[in-house]
Amino acid sequence: MRSDLLDLTRRAALVAGIAFLSVPAMAQETPRKIRIGVIGSGNIGGTIGTLWVKDGHEVMFSSRHPESLKPMIEGLGDKARAGTPEEAIAFGDAVFVAVPYKAYPELSKSYAESLKGKVVLDAGNATKARDGELYDEVQANGIGATSEKYFPGAKLVRAFNAASSKVFAKAGADGGRDRAGGRMAIPIAGDDRAALTVAEGLVRDAGFDPVVVGGLKDAARFAMGSPGFGHEQTAPELRKTLGLTP
Ligand SMILES: NC(=O)c1ccc[n+]([C@@H]2O[C@H](COP(=O)([O-])OP(=O)(O)OC[C@H]3O[C@@H](n4cnc5c(N)ncnc54)[C@H](OP(=O)(O)O)[C@@H]3O)[C@@H](O)[C@H]2O)c1
Repeated sequence: MRSDLLDLTRRAALVAGIAFLSVPAMAQETPRKIRIGVIGSGNIGGTIGTLWVKDGHEVMFSSRHPESLKPMIEGLGDKARAGTPEEAIAFGDAVFVAVPYKAYPELSKSYAESLKGKVVLDAGNATKARDGELYDEVQANGIGATSEKYFPGAKLVRAFNAASSKVFAKAGADGGRDRAGGRMAIPIAGDDRAALTVAEGLVRDAGFDPVVVGGLKDAARFAMGSPGFGHEQTAPELRKTLGLTP
């Protein structure tokens, strides 16, 4: 158990680009990528998961009908595989949730228990037209608190919610290196510092620069419909937009 924990900590540190220079054995290890489980492999799950695969992460894309993912998986090579949501959660050192917000109560019933203690990146947005009551709940309580209610005990980080999958696909192509003006920034927010570190690394690995906005309650600052939503800016520009210290 202790070695498992140490292993995950090492993987988390490696994905965040942190070297354990004080541990000579680690310095000689080839940096490893982490395993990521994707729940909801549609527009956003498919797009961001693909960027992680291209960076060398092992990704299990999931669907309630995993066979439907075959064409996508086949085009991505041996770092990508398909499974059920249960399998993706078990597989992932971190899990990316990318399903319509109205599905959160159902998802919670089925998977909240197995997501406890996991680093969970949450891209869901609630819209009035699509998500009905869940939209009202988010308006009343905030997106961070609402996601936390449905995934209690998960190490939640709001991420990749604040622009469209088409924008992410373009801006993250080639590791974001070719983007005119510099890499696009992704606002993230979470209460667990270690999970934020993992998320920062995963944002970088997908080809973007992370901007930590604050705790889960601060996810409201870049929620859909807020002034912080929908920007295609670099990290310094986004910090300015959000009124964060540089
Ligand atoms: N599209 C974007 O540009 C974008 C950008 C940022 C954030 N978001 C947010 O990301 C979320 C997903 O959006 P999307 O556009 O990617 O949707 P999408 O293309 O419709 O894909 C969502 C996937 O979720 C899965 N799903 C639906 N209900 C489920 C349930 N009850 N249990 C498990 N899986 C379920 C479906 O997979 P199966 O039917 O195969 O199981 C579906 O492929 C939304 O909350 C959206 O607001 C979207």
